[in-house]
Amino acid sequence: MASQPSLGVASAGGGGPSAGLAAALGEEAATLGAVAIGQRGAISSAEANASAVGRAVLARGGNAVDAAVAVAFVLGVTQPSAGNIGGGGFMIVREAAGQAIAIDYREVAPLAATRDMFVGATGEVTSDARYGPLAAGVPGTVAGLGFAHRRWGKLPWAELVAPAIALAREGHRLDRAHAEELAWGLGTLREYQQRLSAPGAPAATHAALARAVAQTGDLWSGEDGAPLPEGALWRQPELADTLSTIADGGPGAFYGGALAERLTRQMQAMGGLWTLEDFAAYRVVERAPIEFDYHGHHIITMPPPSGGGVVLRQILAASEKLELAALDWDSAEHAHLFVEIARRAYADRNQLVTDPDFADVPLARLLDTAHVHARMADIDRQHATPSSRVAGGTPIAESKHTTHFSVVDSSGMAVANTFTLNESFGARVQVPGTGVTLNNEMDDFTAKVGSPNLFGLVQGAQNAIQPGKRMLSSMSPTLVLQGDRLRAVLGSPGGPTITTTVAQVLLQLVDHGRSLEQAIAAPRVHHQWLPDEIAHEQRLPGATVDALRAMGHTLVSEPGIGHANCIAVDPETGLLHAVADVTRGGGAAAAY
Ligand code: DON
Repeated sequence: MASQPSLGVASAGGGGPSAGLAAALGEEAATLGAVAIGQRGAISSAEANASAVGRAVLARGGNAVDAAVAVAFVLGVTQPSAGNIGGGGFMIVREAAGQAIAIDYREVAPLAATRDMFVGATGEVTSDARYGPLAAGVPGTVAGLGFAHRRWGKLPWAELVAPAIALAREGHRLDRAHAEELAWGLGTLREYQQRLSAPGAPAATHAALARAVAQTGDLWSGEDGAPLPEGALWRQPELADTLSTIADGGPGAFYGGALAERLTRQMQAMGGLWTLEDFAAYRVVERAPIEFDYHGHHIITMPPPSGGGVVLRQILAASEKLELAALDWDSAEHAHLFVEIARRAYADRNQLVTDPDFADVPLARLLDTAHVHARMADIDRQHATPSSRVAGGTPIAESKHTTHFSVVDSSGMAVANTFTLNESFGARVQVPGTGVTLNNEMDDFTAKVGSPNLFGLVQGAQNAIQPGKRMLSSMSPTLVLQGDRLRAVLGSPGGPTITTTVAQVLLQLVDHGRSLEQAIAAPRVHHQWLPDEIAHEQRLPGATVDALRAMGHTLVSEPGIGHANCIAVDPETGLLHAVADVTRGGGAAAAY
């Protein structure tokens, strides 16, 4: 085991991590790779500093939730495209004693939001759903991490926020994946900046917004305005100050007091809707996970307002019925049946799943084996079924990122956490002076029935915007058990491809005797009902692509689908295998 850096201040001060902590973490991070095997604890995340911090927390006696809190705050600094304090997410925690809880810290629509706020004068969906302050739901991340820490944390809150503060204040070195990501974010921000100053710019255009976008661009670039190269030391002093406020004042300091006043005042100046009332009203919701058995395993996954659990359940129940386990995983027949199942599962999800606190979600029916079997009854083993017969589209927008990480500690406590700003770098603007990047999660609502969102998802009226409502998600943090023993911690980013990614990793582990590394490495396919096409990774063999086309499928090739940073437990030795999905966008595994 490599030596562990200290986590910095152990006092409640939180504001003054010891000098050099970021550098020490950087050195530690540089030693991490795609796979790590340990006996006592493991972590897999999208960024090496985050995994290094997670391991350090575990090694000094923190539990999996302590590690998850520290990792999440670090990702907010070192993976700014998706790690966040201005977004939201879902966490599944399994206590050492076996009880599993789903924590919903999804963003909510501001109280002043309206159903048609993104429908323009001529009936088109406006870009306000995606760029700028109106796109941002009220953030849940700090509350969600606070909730988990209050319930399970062993180490002091401030100590867990300290590494993120150090990395923001002292800076961290950009690895290649994250330098590329930041350059991409800067590029789309510049395009947005140009659109803001063009004639006919979106309704939310305010001088304050244009200034904020320009300032955000300054923070995401070098002194000359050019993208920061790989290896550059990137400092984020404003974010460090905000994190210090949260470290010192606790999670509540984000939702009330000077920071909340600043966030809401600046948002209003930019044309946004956030108010102090929105912040005071924000609540984390503890939910019962969706649980079911599959081929001798017990699956624990995310309920609505994520559609992830529903889709995963339907895919697995249908796989069992159609006996997919008996097929060669790499065959075109397997890929065909998998996407036919996913097509139907997504048709249900898109039309029927929403925030259960706002409408009745027919959850029992959606999860019922008989319903799944009936839904899948018209699958043709040789031919594609057009989606128009299953219940129209646009290609899946190439868009990253959400971020998933997995943690297991020595007591057996496990955390699967997926959180996001929605699109990469969210709404492409920060609240000035705070380092808080706005999410663009409002785009996950149905802006207009029949109009695809940025992922090409065509969703129903049940998911319309309502004040205080949570938008439908695909995020699928998932645990797999064998008996009462943990077998795997799974999850991924990728919008609608999240759930099909989790399903493909899970099926290979359970049914095809593959290791986690093999399961993560295999090329992925995806279908979401509409658009009526299979998205597949470029690496899918040409013969499989040809065979699927001959069955009547339309195919689109994607550079990568998902980013599954997962952990598997060897059923024989009990060893923890953390695997980061490095070929699809960096990441690092750590264990001890
Ligand atoms: O909640 C959802 O399903 C989306 N907001 C997730 C977005 C996402 O995964 C983008 N990543 N690649």
